[in-house]
Amino acid sequence: MSETVSSRFPGFHKLPLEERLAHLSKAFSLSREDLHRLRGEALEADTANQMIENAVGTFSLPLGLGLNLTVNGRDYVVPMAVEEPSVVAAVSFANKIVREAGGFTAEADASIMIGQVQVTRYGDPTAATEKILGAKDQILALANSFHPDMVRRGGGALDVEVRMLPPPEGPKGEPLLIVHVLIDTQEAMGANMINTVAEGIAPLIEQITGGKVYLRILSNLADRRLARASCRIPVPALADFDMNGEDIAEGIAQASRFAMADPYRAATHNKGVMNGIDAVAIATGQDWRAIEAGAHAFACREGQYRPLSTWYLEEGHLVGRIELPLALGTVGGPIKVHPGVQTAFKILRVSSTRELATVFAAVGLAQNFAAIRALGSVGIQKGHMALHARCVAVTAGARGAWVEKLANLLVKAGHVKVEKAKEILAALPADEARAATGS
Ligand code: MEV
Repeated sequence: MSETVSSRFPGFHKLPLEERLAHLSKAFSLSREDLHRLRGEALEADTANQMIENAVGTFSLPLGLGLNLTVNGRDYVVPMAVEEPSVVAAVSFANKIVREAGGFTAEADASIMIGQVQVTRYGDPTAATEKILGAKDQILALANSFHPDMVRRGGGALDVEVRMLPPPEGPKGEPLLIVHVLIDTQEAMGANMINTVAEGIAPLIEQITGGKVYLRILSNLADRRLARASCRIPVPALADFDMNGEDIAEGIAQASRFAMADPYRAATHNKGVMNGIDAVAIATGQDWRAIEAGAHAFACREGQYRPLSTWYLEEGHLVGRIELPLALGTVGGPIKVHPGVQTAFKILRVSSTRELATVFAAVGLAQNFAAIRALGSVGIQKGHMALHARCVAVTAGARGAWVEKLANLLVKAGHVKVEKAKEILAALPADEARAATGS
Protein backbone atom coordinates (compact mmCIF):
# COMPACT_ATOMS: atom_id res chain seq x y z
CA MET A 1 0.00 0.00 0.00
CA SER A 2 1.39 3.41 -0.92
CA GLU A 3 2.18 6.00 1.73
CA THR A 4 -0.68 8.26 2.83
CA VAL A 5 -0.57 11.97 2.09
CA SER A 6 -2.79 14.14 4.27
CA SER A 7 -5.89 15.29 2.42
CA ARG A 8 -5.95 18.46 4.54
CA PHE A 9 -4.58 21.45 2.62
CA PRO A 10 -5.99 24.44 4.54
CA GLY A 11 -6.26 27.52 2.30
CA PHE A 12 -5.57 25.49 -0.89
CA HIS A 13 -8.45 27.20 -2.72
CA LYS A 14 -6.95 30.62 -2.01
CA LEU A 15 -3.58 29.81 -3.61
CA PRO A 16 -2.82 30.83 -7.19
CA LEU A 17 -2.98 27.80 -9.51
CA GLU A 18 0.81 27.63 -9.97
CA GLU A 19 1.32 27.51 -6.21
CA ARG A 20 -1.25 24.73 -5.92
CA LEU A 21 0.69 22.77 -8.51
CA ALA A 22 3.98 23.38 -6.68
CA HIS A 23 2.41 22.17 -3.46
CA LEU A 24 0.97 19.11 -5.16
CA SER A 25 4.20 18.30 -6.93
CA LYS A 26 6.03 18.20 -3.59
CA ALA A 27 3.36 16.27 -1.70
CA PHE A 28 2.94 13.59 -4.37
CA SER A 29 6.42 13.63 -5.95
CA LEU A 30 4.93 14.55 -9.32
CA SER A 31 7.18 14.82 -12.36
CA ARG A 32 7.40 17.81 -14.73
CA GLU A 33 5.40 15.69 -17.13
CA ASP A 34 2.63 15.22 -14.55
CA LEU A 35 2.48 18.97 -14.00
CA HIS A 36 2.35 19.54 -17.74
CA ARG A 37 -0.60 17.14 -17.93
CA LEU A 38 -2.38 18.86 -15.05
CA ARG A 39 -1.95 22.19 -16.82
CA GLY A 40 -4.11 20.82 -19.60
CA GLU A 41 -1.83 18.88 -21.92
CA ALA A 42 -2.99 15.50 -20.68
CA LEU A 43 -3.97 13.82 -23.91
CA GLU A 44 -2.09 14.38 -27.18
CA ALA A 45 -4.16 14.41 -30.37
CA ASP A 46 -2.06 11.48 -31.65
CA THR A 47 -3.02 9.37 -28.63
CA ALA A 48 -6.67 10.40 -28.99
CA ASN A 49 -6.44 9.24 -32.59
CA GLN A 50 -5.45 5.76 -31.36
CA MET A 51 -8.36 5.68 -28.93
CA ILE A 52 -11.42 6.41 -31.07
CA GLU A 53 -12.57 6.53 -34.66
CA ASN A 54 -12.76 9.83 -36.58
CA ALA A 55 -10.77 11.67 -33.89
CA VAL A 56 -10.33 15.36 -34.60
CA GLY A 57 -8.83 16.47 -31.30
CA THR A 58 -9.35 16.32 -27.55
CA PHE A 59 -11.79 17.92 -25.15
CA SER A 60 -10.88 19.31 -21.73
CA LEU A 61 -12.71 19.82 -18.44
CA PRO A 62 -11.57 21.58 -15.28
CA LEU A 63 -9.74 19.18 -12.96
CA GLY A 64 -10.04 19.95 -9.25
CA LEU A 65 -9.05 18.20 -6.06
CA GLY A 66 -11.60 16.99 -3.55
CA LEU A 67 -9.85 17.55 -0.21
CA ASN A 68 -10.23 16.46 3.41
CA LEU A 69 -11.41 12.94 2.60
CA THR A 70 -10.76 10.18 5.13
CA VAL A 71 -12.01 6.65 4.41
CA ASN A 72 -11.30 3.78 6.78
CA GLY A 73 -8.74 5.93 8.58
CA ARG A 74 -6.80 6.72 5.40
CA ASP A 75 -6.59 10.11 3.69
CA TYR A 76 -7.28 10.54 -0.01
CA VAL A 77 -6.87 13.57 -2.26
CA VAL A 78 -9.45 13.04 -4.98
CA PRO A 79 -8.96 14.25 -8.57
CA MET A 80 -12.32 15.35 -9.99
CA ALA A 81 -13.04 16.40 -13.59
CA VAL A 82 -16.22 18.44 -13.69
CA GLU A 83 -17.63 21.62 -15.18
CA GLU A 84 -20.17 22.42 -12.43
CA PRO A 85 -18.68 25.18 -10.24
CA SER A 86 -19.88 24.01 -6.81
CA VAL A 87 -19.02 20.29 -6.90
CA VAL A 88 -15.40 20.30 -5.70
CA ALA A 89 -15.93 22.97 -3.05
CA ALA A 90 -19.03 21.17 -1.73
CA VAL A 91 -17.41 17.73 -1.46
CA SER A 92 -14.31 19.16 0.25
CA PHE A 93 -16.52 20.96 2.74
CA ALA A 94 -18.59 17.84 3.45
CA ASN A 95 -15.43 15.71 3.79
CA LYS A 96 -14.13 18.12 6.42
CA ILE A 97 -17.23 17.78 8.58
CA VAL A 98 -17.17 13.98 8.27
CA ARG A 99 -13.43 13.84 8.88
CA GLU A 100 -13.85 15.70 12.16
CA ALA A 101 -16.46 13.10 13.08
CA GLY A 102 -14.04 10.20 12.44
CA GLY A 103 -14.25 9.93 8.64
CA PHE A 104 -16.10 7.54 6.37
CA THR A 105 -16.24 3.81 6.84
CA ALA A 106 -16.50 1.92 3.56
CA GLU A 107 -16.19 -1.50 1.98
CA ALA A 108 -16.47 -2.97 -1.50
CA ASP A 109 -17.37 -6.43 -2.77
CA ALA A 110 -15.03 -8.49 -4.93
CA SER A 111 -15.08 -7.60 -8.64
CA ILE A 112 -17.84 -10.01 -9.64
CA MET A 113 -19.47 -9.07 -12.93
CA ILE A 114 -22.34 -10.67 -14.83
CA GLY A 115 -22.25 -11.79 -18.45
CA GLN A 116 -25.66 -12.46 -20.03
CA VAL A 117 -26.55 -14.96 -22.74
CA GLN A 118 -30.08 -14.88 -24.15
CA VAL A 119 -31.34 -18.31 -25.24
CA THR A 120 -34.46 -18.74 -27.40
CA ARG A 121 -36.32 -21.68 -28.99
CA TYR A 122 -35.02 -23.97 -26.23
CA GLY A 123 -38.20 -26.10 -25.87
CA ASP A 124 -39.29 -26.98 -22.35
CA PRO A 125 -38.14 -24.29 -19.83
CA THR A 126 -37.54 -26.68 -16.93
CA ALA A 127 -35.63 -29.18 -19.05
CA ALA A 128 -33.49 -26.42 -20.61
CA THR A 129 -32.69 -24.97 -17.19
CA GLU A 130 -31.70 -28.38 -15.85
CA LYS A 131 -29.50 -29.07 -18.86
CA ILE A 132 -27.62 -25.79 -18.44
CA LEU A 133 -27.15 -26.19 -14.70
CA GLY A 134 -26.13 -29.82 -15.21
CA ALA A 135 -23.36 -28.66 -17.56
CA LYS A 136 -22.14 -25.91 -15.24
CA ASP A 137 -18.61 -27.31 -14.86
CA GLN A 138 -18.23 -27.69 -18.61
CA ILE A 139 -19.46 -24.12 -19.21
CA LEU A 140 -17.14 -22.71 -16.53
CA ALA A 141 -14.17 -24.64 -17.90
CA LEU A 142 -14.83 -23.25 -21.37
CA ALA A 143 -15.35 -19.73 -19.98
CA ASN A 144 -12.04 -19.89 -18.12
CA SER A 145 -10.16 -21.15 -21.16
CA PHE A 146 -10.53 -17.66 -22.71
CA HIS A 147 -8.66 -15.90 -19.91
CA PRO A 148 -6.06 -18.26 -18.42
CA ASP A 149 -4.02 -15.36 -17.01
CA MET A 150 -7.00 -14.07 -15.08
CA VAL A 151 -7.59 -17.56 -13.68
CA ARG A 152 -3.92 -17.82 -12.66
CA ARG A 153 -4.32 -14.51 -10.79
CA GLY A 154 -7.25 -15.96 -8.84
CA GLY A 155 -10.11 -14.54 -10.94
CA GLY A 156 -12.22 -15.88 -13.77
CA ALA A 157 -15.67 -17.45 -14.20
CA LEU A 158 -17.12 -18.64 -10.89
CA ASP A 159 -20.70 -19.65 -11.41
CA VAL A 160 -23.55 -20.08 -13.86
CA GLU A 161 -27.15 -19.11 -13.10
CA VAL A 162 -30.33 -19.43 -15.14
CA ARG A 163 -33.12 -16.86 -15.05
CA MET A 164 -36.52 -17.53 -16.58
CA LEU A 165 -38.39 -14.29 -17.26
CA PRO A 166 -42.03 -13.78 -18.25
CA PRO A 167 -42.49 -12.90 -21.94
CA PRO A 168 -43.07 -9.13 -22.29
CA GLU A 169 -45.73 -9.67 -25.00
CA GLY A 170 -47.92 -11.82 -22.68
CA PRO A 171 -48.37 -15.51 -21.78
CA LYS A 172 -48.47 -16.65 -25.43
CA GLY A 173 -44.82 -15.68 -25.91
CA GLU A 174 -41.79 -17.79 -25.07
CA PRO A 175 -40.45 -17.13 -21.55
CA LEU A 176 -36.98 -15.57 -21.72
CA LEU A 177 -34.17 -17.90 -20.76
CA ILE A 178 -31.20 -15.84 -19.66
CA VAL A 179 -27.96 -17.47 -18.60
CA HIS A 180 -25.78 -15.48 -16.23
CA VAL A 181 -22.12 -16.27 -15.98
CA LEU A 182 -20.48 -14.70 -12.94
CA ILE A 183 -16.90 -13.62 -13.49
CA ASP A 184 -14.36 -12.21 -11.07
CA THR A 185 -12.57 -9.57 -13.15
CA GLN A 186 -10.21 -8.61 -10.29
CA GLU A 187 -8.46 -5.30 -11.04
CA ALA A 188 -10.27 -4.70 -14.35
CA MET A 189 -13.70 -3.23 -14.95
CA GLY A 190 -13.84 -6.25 -17.18
CA ALA A 191 -16.23 -5.38 -20.03
CA ASN A 192 -14.07 -6.93 -22.75
CA MET A 193 -13.31 -10.01 -20.74
CA ILE A 194 -16.98 -10.64 -19.93
CA ASN A 195 -18.09 -10.08 -23.51
CA THR A 196 -15.45 -12.51 -24.77
CA VAL A 197 -16.69 -15.12 -22.30
CA ALA A 198 -20.38 -14.53 -23.10
CA GLU A 199 -19.68 -14.87 -26.83
CA GLY A 200 -17.33 -17.79 -26.28
CA ILE A 201 -19.75 -19.95 -24.28
CA ALA A 202 -22.76 -19.22 -26.53
CA PRO A 203 -22.17 -22.13 -29.00
CA LEU A 204 -21.88 -24.57 -26.08
CA ILE A 205 -25.13 -23.26 -24.61
CA GLU A 206 -26.84 -23.68 -27.98
CA GLN A 207 -25.50 -27.22 -28.17
CA ILE A 208 -26.66 -28.05 -24.62
CA THR A 209 -30.17 -26.60 -25.03
CA GLY A 210 -30.74 -27.10 -28.76
CA GLY A 211 -31.85 -23.45 -28.74
CA LYS A 212 -30.69 -20.33 -30.51
CA VAL A 213 -28.65 -17.67 -28.70
CA TYR A 214 -29.07 -13.99 -29.51
CA LEU A 215 -27.50 -11.42 -27.17
CA ARG A 216 -24.18 -12.12 -25.42
CA ILE A 217 -23.05 -9.16 -23.37
CA LEU A 218 -22.20 -7.98 -19.85
CA SER A 219 -24.86 -6.51 -17.59
CA ASN A 220 -24.21 -3.01 -16.30
CA LEU A 221 -26.44 -3.76 -13.33
CA ALA A 222 -23.33 -4.92 -11.48
CA ASP A 223 -25.18 -5.85 -8.31
CA ARG A 224 -22.59 -8.45 -7.25
CA ARG A 225 -20.04 -5.67 -7.14
CA LEU A 226 -21.47 -3.22 -4.63
CA ALA A 227 -19.67 -0.64 -2.56
CA ARG A 228 -20.97 0.80 0.69
CA ALA A 229 -19.96 3.84 2.70
CA SER A 230 -21.31 5.35 5.89
CA CYS A 231 -20.61 8.18 8.29
CA ARG A 232 -21.83 9.23 11.71
CA ILE A 233 -21.78 12.90 12.58
CA PRO A 234 -22.56 14.23 16.08
CA VAL A 235 -25.60 16.50 15.66
CA PRO A 236 -24.00 19.58 17.32
CA ALA A 237 -21.19 19.44 14.71
CA LEU A 238 -23.78 20.28 12.03
CA ALA A 239 -24.62 23.75 13.41
CA ASP A 240 -24.23 26.43 10.71
CA PHE A 241 -25.99 29.34 8.98
CA ASP A 242 -27.08 30.63 12.43
CA MET A 243 -28.97 27.36 12.86
CA ASN A 244 -28.38 24.73 15.50
CA GLY A 245 -27.28 21.18 14.70
CA GLU A 246 -30.73 19.73 15.43
CA ASP A 247 -32.38 21.92 12.81
CA ILE A 248 -29.80 21.10 10.15
CA ALA A 249 -29.95 17.38 10.96
CA GLU A 250 -33.73 17.46 10.75
CA GLY A 251 -33.53 19.11 7.31
CA ILE A 252 -31.17 16.36 6.09
CA ALA A 253 -33.35 13.56 7.49
CA GLN A 254 -36.41 15.17 5.88
CA ALA A 255 -34.56 15.33 2.54
CA SER A 256 -33.87 11.62 2.85
CA ARG A 257 -37.56 10.84 3.59
CA PHE A 258 -38.60 12.93 0.59
CA ALA A 259 -36.26 11.05 -1.75
CA MET A 260 -37.33 7.69 -0.33
CA ALA A 261 -41.00 8.43 -1.00
CA ASP A 262 -40.82 10.28 -4.32
CA PRO A 263 -38.97 9.21 -7.51
CA TYR A 264 -39.09 12.80 -8.79
CA ARG A 265 -37.01 13.87 -5.81
CA ALA A 266 -34.93 10.65 -5.77
CA ALA A 267 -33.71 11.39 -9.31
CA THR A 268 -32.34 14.77 -8.22
CA HIS A 269 -30.99 13.37 -4.95
CA ASN A 270 -29.08 10.73 -6.93
CA LYS A 271 -27.91 13.35 -9.43
CA GLY A 272 -26.22 15.00 -6.45
CA VAL A 273 -24.56 11.67 -5.55
CA MET A 274 -23.40 11.18 -9.14
CA ASN A 275 -22.00 14.74 -9.33
CA GLY A 276 -19.16 13.46 -7.17
CA ILE A 277 -18.89 9.93 -8.51
CA ASP A 278 -18.88 10.94 -12.18
CA ALA A 279 -16.25 13.60 -11.57
CA VAL A 280 -13.80 11.16 -10.00
CA ALA A 281 -14.78 8.52 -12.58
CA ILE A 282 -13.86 10.82 -15.45
CA ALA A 283 -10.59 11.89 -13.82
CA THR A 284 -9.59 8.26 -13.23
CA GLY A 285 -10.53 7.01 -16.71
CA GLN A 286 -13.52 4.91 -15.70
CA ASP A 287 -16.50 4.05 -17.91
CA TRP A 288 -18.83 6.56 -16.27
CA ARG A 289 -21.79 5.63 -18.51
CA ALA A 290 -21.55 2.08 -17.14
CA ILE A 291 -21.41 3.44 -13.58
CA GLU A 292 -24.42 5.69 -14.22
CA ALA A 293 -26.43 2.88 -15.83
CA GLY A 294 -25.65 0.53 -12.94
CA ALA A 295 -26.41 3.10 -10.26
CA HIS A 296 -29.83 4.03 -11.64
CA ALA A 297 -30.87 0.44 -12.35
CA PHE A 298 -29.84 -0.46 -8.79
CA ALA A 299 -31.82 2.50 -7.45
CA CYS A 300 -34.89 0.88 -9.02
CA ARG A 301 -34.34 -2.63 -7.70
CA GLU A 302 -37.41 -2.59 -5.43
CA GLY A 303 -39.70 -1.60 -8.29
CA GLN A 304 -39.63 2.11 -7.40
CA TYR A 305 -36.77 4.46 -8.15
CA ARG A 306 -35.20 5.27 -4.77
CA PRO A 307 -32.27 7.25 -3.36
CA LEU A 308 -28.87 5.55 -3.37
CA SER A 309 -28.17 7.09 0.04
CA THR A 310 -30.20 7.53 3.20
CA TRP A 311 -29.83 9.75 6.27
CA TYR A 312 -31.37 9.36 9.69
CA LEU A 313 -30.92 10.39 13.30
CA GLU A 314 -29.61 7.86 15.81
CA GLU A 315 -28.53 8.52 19.40
CA GLY A 316 -27.55 12.14 18.91
CA HIS A 317 -25.85 11.46 15.56
CA LEU A 318 -26.78 11.99 11.96
CA VAL A 319 -26.04 8.73 10.14
CA GLY A 320 -25.57 8.56 6.37
CA ARG A 321 -25.33 5.40 4.28
CA ILE A 322 -24.85 4.71 0.61
CA GLU A 323 -24.77 1.50 -1.41
CA LEU A 324 -24.37 1.21 -5.17
CA PRO A 325 -22.76 -0.94 -7.86
CA LEU A 326 -19.32 0.29 -8.85
CA ALA A 327 -17.73 -1.51 -11.79
CA LEU A 328 -14.31 0.14 -11.75
CA GLY A 329 -10.82 -0.75 -12.84
CA THR A 330 -7.24 0.13 -12.06
CA VAL A 331 -6.00 -1.57 -15.24
CA GLY A 332 -7.22 -1.72 -18.83
CA GLY A 333 -9.27 0.72 -20.88
CA PRO A 334 -7.94 4.28 -20.96
CA ILE A 335 -6.15 3.85 -17.64
CA LYS A 336 -2.81 2.98 -19.20
CA VAL A 337 -3.37 4.98 -22.39
CA HIS A 338 -4.48 8.35 -21.01
CA PRO A 339 -1.51 10.10 -19.38
CA GLY A 340 -3.79 12.39 -17.33
CA VAL A 341 -5.39 9.34 -15.75
CA GLN A 342 -1.99 8.05 -14.69
CA THR A 343 -1.29 11.35 -12.96
CA ALA A 344 -4.69 11.21 -11.29
CA PHE A 345 -3.84 7.76 -9.89
CA LYS A 346 -0.52 9.10 -8.57
CA ILE A 347 -2.52 11.63 -6.56
CA LEU A 348 -5.30 9.28 -5.46
CA ARG A 349 -2.89 6.55 -4.30
CA VAL A 350 -5.20 3.56 -4.19
CA SER A 351 -3.69 0.13 -4.43
CA SER A 352 -6.68 -1.85 -5.67
CA THR A 353 -9.98 -1.54 -7.50
CA ARG A 354 -11.85 -2.40 -4.32
CA GLU A 355 -10.10 0.41 -2.47
CA LEU A 356 -10.97 2.72 -5.37
CA ALA A 357 -14.63 1.74 -5.00
CA THR A 358 -14.60 2.65 -1.29
CA VAL A 359 -13.35 6.12 -2.23
CA PHE A 360 -16.03 6.49 -4.92
CA ALA A 361 -18.79 5.50 -2.49
CA ALA A 362 -17.55 7.94 0.15
CA VAL A 363 -17.31 10.75 -2.43
CA GLY A 364 -20.90 10.06 -3.53
CA LEU A 365 -22.15 10.17 0.05
CA ALA A 366 -20.18 13.34 0.83
CA GLN A 367 -21.46 15.09 -2.29
CA ASN A 368 -25.02 14.15 -1.40
CA PHE A 369 -24.53 15.33 2.19
CA ALA A 370 -23.31 18.74 1.00
CA ALA A 371 -26.32 19.16 -1.28
CA ILE A 372 -29.07 18.13 1.14
CA ARG A 373 -27.48 19.97 4.06
CA ALA A 374 -27.91 23.18 2.09
CA LEU A 375 -31.27 22.19 0.59
CA GLY A 376 -32.72 21.30 4.00
CA SER A 377 -31.63 24.64 5.48
CA VAL A 378 -30.75 27.83 3.60
CA GLY A 379 -31.12 26.46 0.05
CA ILE A 380 -28.35 26.04 -2.50
CA GLN A 381 -28.72 29.16 -4.58
CA LYS A 382 -26.68 31.40 -2.31
CA GLY A 383 -23.60 29.19 -2.46
CA HIS A 384 -24.13 28.29 -6.11
CA MET A 385 -24.55 31.90 -7.14
CA ALA A 386 -21.22 32.91 -5.61
CA LEU A 387 -19.47 30.25 -7.73
CA HIS A 388 -21.62 30.79 -10.80
CA ALA A 389 -20.74 34.50 -10.62
CA ARG A 390 -17.10 33.62 -11.41
CA CYS A 391 -18.14 31.93 -14.66
CA VAL A 392 -20.31 34.93 -15.51
CA ALA A 393 -17.38 37.28 -14.81
CA VAL A 394 -15.10 35.25 -17.13
CA THR A 395 -17.79 35.17 -19.84
CA ALA A 396 -18.10 38.95 -19.60
CA GLY A 397 -14.34 39.27 -20.20
CA ALA A 398 -12.82 39.57 -16.71
CA ARG A 399 -9.35 38.11 -16.22
CA GLY A 400 -6.94 37.50 -13.32
CA ALA A 401 -7.84 38.97 -9.93
CA TRP A 402 -10.75 40.77 -11.53
CA VAL A 403 -12.69 37.51 -11.92
CA GLU A 404 -13.15 37.25 -8.15
CA LYS A 405 -13.63 41.02 -7.78
CA LEU A 406 -16.32 41.19 -10.44
CA ALA A 407 -18.00 38.04 -9.13
CA ASN A 408 -18.25 39.61 -5.67
CA LEU A 409 -19.73 42.80 -7.16
CA LEU A 410 -22.34 40.76 -9.05
CA VAL A 411 -23.36 38.82 -5.93
CA LYS A 412 -23.53 42.05 -3.93
CA ALA A 413 -25.73 43.59 -6.63
CA GLY A 414 -27.96 40.48 -6.45
CA HIS A 415 -27.82 40.33 -10.25
CA VAL A 416 -25.53 37.53 -11.51
CA LYS A 417 -25.92 38.08 -15.24
CA VAL A 418 -23.45 38.61 -18.08
CA GLU A 419 -25.12 41.91 -19.11
CA LYS A 420 -24.71 43.26 -15.58
CA ALA A 421 -21.06 42.12 -15.52
CA LYS A 422 -20.40 43.86 -18.86
CA GLU A 423 -22.13 46.96 -17.55
CA ILE A 424 -19.80 47.05 -14.52
CA LEU A 425 -16.72 46.55 -16.72
CA ALA A 426 -17.88 49.25 -19.16
CA ALA A 427 -18.28 51.73 -16.30
CA LEU A 428 -14.62 51.32 -15.22
CA PRO A 429 -12.03 53.99 -16.10
CA ALA A 430 -10.21 52.99 -19.31
CA ASP A 431 -6.92 51.86 -17.70
CA GLU A 432 -8.71 49.87 -15.02
CA ALA A 433 -10.97 48.25 -17.65
CA ARG A 434 -7.85 47.21 -19.60
CA ALA A 435 -6.38 45.65 -16.45
CA ALA A 436 -9.70 43.93 -15.66
CA THR A 437 -9.99 42.32 -19.05
CA GLY A 438 -6.31 41.77 -19.74
CA SER A 439 -6.66 43.66 -23.03
C1 MEV B 1 -27.12 19.96 -8.47
O1 MEV B 1 -26.12 19.65 -9.41
C2 MEV B 1 -27.34 18.79 -7.53
C3 MEV B 1 -28.50 18.97 -6.53
O2 MEV B 1 -29.70 19.25 -7.25
C4 MEV B 1 -28.63 17.67 -5.78
C5 MEV B 1 -29.84 17.58 -4.89
O3 MEV B 1 -30.85 18.24 -5.16
O4 MEV B 1 -29.77 16.82 -3.91
C6 MEV B 1 -28.26 20.12 -5.61
